[in-house]
Amino acid sequence: MDKLLITGGTALQGEVRASGAKNAALPILAATLLAGGPVTLTNVPRLRDISTTLQLLGRMGAHLTQDADGVVRAESRTLTSFAAPYALVKTMRASILVLGPLMARYGHADVSLPGGCAIGARPVNLHLDGLKAMGAEITVEGGYIRARSGRLRGARLMMDMVTVTGTENLMMAAVLAQGETLIENAAREPEVIDLAGFLTAMGARIEGAGTDHIHIQGVDQLDGAHYAVMPDRIETGTFLVGAAMTGGRVRVSHTRPDCLDAVLQKLRECGAQVTTGEDWIEVDMQGRRPRAVDIHTAPHPAFPTDMQAQFCALNSIAEGVGVVTETIFENRFMHVLELQRMGADIRIDGHLAICRGVQRLTAAPVMATDLRASAGLVLAGLVAHGETLVDRIYHLDRGYDNIEAKLAGLGAVIRRTSAAAA
Ligand code: UD1
Repeated sequence: MDKLLITGGTALQGEVRASGAKNAALPILAATLLAGGPVTLTNVPRLRDISTTLQLLGRMGAHLTQDADGVVRAESRTLTSFAAPYALVKTMRASILVLGPLMARYGHADVSLPGGCAIGARPVNLHLDGLKAMGAEITVEGGYIRARSGRLRGARLMMDMVTVTGTENLMMAAVLAQGETLIENAAREPEVIDLAGFLTAMGARIEGAGTDHIHIQGVDQLDGAHYAVMPDRIETGTFLVGAAMTGGRVRVSHTRPDCLDAVLQKLRECGAQVTTGEDWIEVDMQGRRPRAVDIHTAPHPAFPTDMQAQFCALNSIAEGVGVVTETIFENRFMHVLELQRMGADIRIDGHLAICRGVQRLTAAPVMATDLRASAGLVLAGLVAHGETLVDRIYHLDRGYDNIEAKLAGLGAVIRRTSAAAA
């Protein structure tokens, strides 16, 4: 099992290119199941979750390939299977995203229930309720969601909670449904807009993506399309926090400053000089120690839960006290226990983490527990005294495209090692 070895103490300096967004690429890949012709996708990141999705779609009979530059080509074919098996779903919850497209086009889906995960229960009841309202018959047997329908019917869907993949699944279900669908209390994440952009490029009729009211007028069929996946705002934010924590200066290129308002505001609050251009963001900390900041996670456009662990790492070495409130997931402080092992002074009280910054963290062997927690630990390793060993980095490989090479390019002392060598 691979691990990362990080020697702390170097300020990050230089320029790094953002990869395509994992959380946009995953629904877009699922949406290729709806395509009536060939699809070419550019800027698809090279990640474990992407290869898992290609494998999942391949098992259904779809034909997709990804080249070394990240370009994915999908050929529309009749599927031979409509199942997402437990073995794949348990490694990637986003597999649930095939449910909407399968029901829209084939009226047939057998998708394993995702079950629990490290950061909380994460149910999919709202995905299922929406499909039922559109005419699907759904049962849950043997750990599988078995969904059947004729052509789905448009419906008014009022979402009890803001759910990103739930909104995406129902938007994909609605594009081929009979009549109009209205999704109310829809997620407003940029990745929802990107998926809508791809569906529209294939001929779907969607209005309001990016607001909490999405209107979809069902069409009879979709075409193929060429589409470029948006940049990864969480990867971008992770490098910028790295610059702030290490007192460095980093420019992230090929990114979207407009998607990161809440994160950039917090970086300014912690004392960083933040400048932006059309497709780049630069953080300059001028060698200073950051000030601790209060964070309150909430659906977009508020502060993203996927940046919470990175800011816990920042607060752990910042000046002052920062209170981090996690409102999206109930168990998303696993990284705090590991940061404590590196000397961080953080107290957890329910969904709050109260961080009193210390002058210095000390290196320790730490364990990654989920994707973003891992990113927080890597950032902590960059400022810790000594050599930090981050174990179980397969979580990191699910969502960060070549993170050690990108950080090394910014001057970090970091290398990957296999279990045998460690
Ligand atoms: C997506 C992102 C993930 C991010 C999260 C919140 C992808 C592939 N993943 O996950 O990186 O951390 O949004 O921004 O895009 N909920 C229900 N019932 C449902 C669905 C959700 O109760 O049917 C709850 C969840 O338990 C959670 C909250 O709603 O507490 C938000 O979850 P949701 O937005 O659905 O997260 P994901 O789409 O799984």
